[in-house]
Amino acid sequence: MWQEIHAEDMNWDPFPRKKGNWFLVTAGREGACNTLLGTYGGLLSLWSRNCAAVAIRESRYTKAFLDREEGFSIAVLPEAFRDAVRYCGSHSGREGDKFAAAGLTPAFAEGIPFPEEAELVLLCRKLCACPMEGARFAPDIHRSYYEGKWENNPHTLYIGEIVKILRKA
Ligand SMILES: Cc1cc2nc3c(=O)[nH]c(=O)nc-3n(C[C@H](O)[C@H](O)[C@H](O)COP(=O)(O)O)c2cc1C
Repeated sequence: MWQEIHAEDMNWDPFPRKKGNWFLVTAGREGACNTLLGTYGGLLSLWSRNCAAVAIRESRYTKAFLDREEGFSIAVLPEAFRDAVRYCGSHSGREGDKFAAAGLTPAFAEGIPFPEEAELVLLCRKLCACPMEGARFAPDIHRSYYEGKWENNPHTLYIGEIVKILRKA
């Protein structure tokens, strides 16, 4: 049973160093959606709205879904689904139906997909997709995240307005 909560009642710390704070980023539509494990992202106040952002590399299959659709979700799953979440971070949806393979169930609200097994879901309306290629990175960030094996695989920062927050009652 899902319960809608207000942003001020949300208790989500997006810093991934804390156990359980990995999240799934999901986009798509009925019959065609995909999800990935994310750690780059968080909450921000922008354009007089409560927003959330995720940084997605060019190579991710999920990126095509994010580009195509108007919404995306950020979902936090309970510890019991840690293996499923890990699966979503080590396999690509290009290999097949990742939801099924991970043992997750796609659900929809506001036309936006999310894993039914989640305990907290942020439903977002995409406000912008900012390619980070060519950004004026601090040299150490550029060296560590955009050179060598990461060359030609930049992040795009997707910023979405949080239209609804759902918590398992
Ligand atoms: C702990 C962890 C955190 C990750 N965070 C991100 C992230 O923030 N952005 C991203 O693009 N990929 C991230 N990834 C990688 C994707 O989850 C992974 O490449 C996934 O298999 C992509 O799936 P897809 O091709 O179906 O989209 C992360 C992986 C792990 C293991």
